Amino acid sequence: MGVGGFMAAGMIMPMARFAIDPVLKANASGDLVATKLKVADITEEPQRVDFTFDQVDAWYESEVTGTAWVYKNENGEIVALSPVCKHLGCTVDWNTDEGNPNRFFCPCHYGLYEKDGKNVPGTPPLAPLDVYPFEEKDGILYLGKAQPREEA
Ligand code: FES
Repeated sequence: MGVGGFMAAGMIMPMARFAIDPVLKANASGDLVATKLKVADITEEPQRVDFTFDQVDAWYESEVTGTAWVYKNENGEIVALSPVCKHLGCTVDWNTDEGNPNRFFCPCHYGLYEKDGKNVPGTPPLAPLDVYPFEEKDGILYLGKAQPREEA
């Protein structure tokens, strides 16, 4: 094999491994991962939940920490919101801006979101916070990959 063939093999092999390895494919698909939060402990007050999952970028696998704001709405339904601001990606906090109680606040450029994640008009974010799909298994909250809302 000449130099060109050798280089091509080096590029193709990792891609082939990714394409045929079902374990890598399963991890890359954004399966639900367990948090440490018991569903019974979810209240109407948003609480910050950190969780870790394996992330596969091409052929690199690494452990990544994710964060969600989780609470039950007035109908008792679980809501899990991404903390990533839809303006420029800073991290939003709950109820930390004195003039705006019970809202998510982004300190970078004073972005605001209602409790349900909708962006407050007149502040920099132009879309609601992403939402995590979730599941309850054995009383524990599992989260998937955060998705933009359809009505955004
Ligand atoms: S990054 Fe959140 S308001 Fe700009």
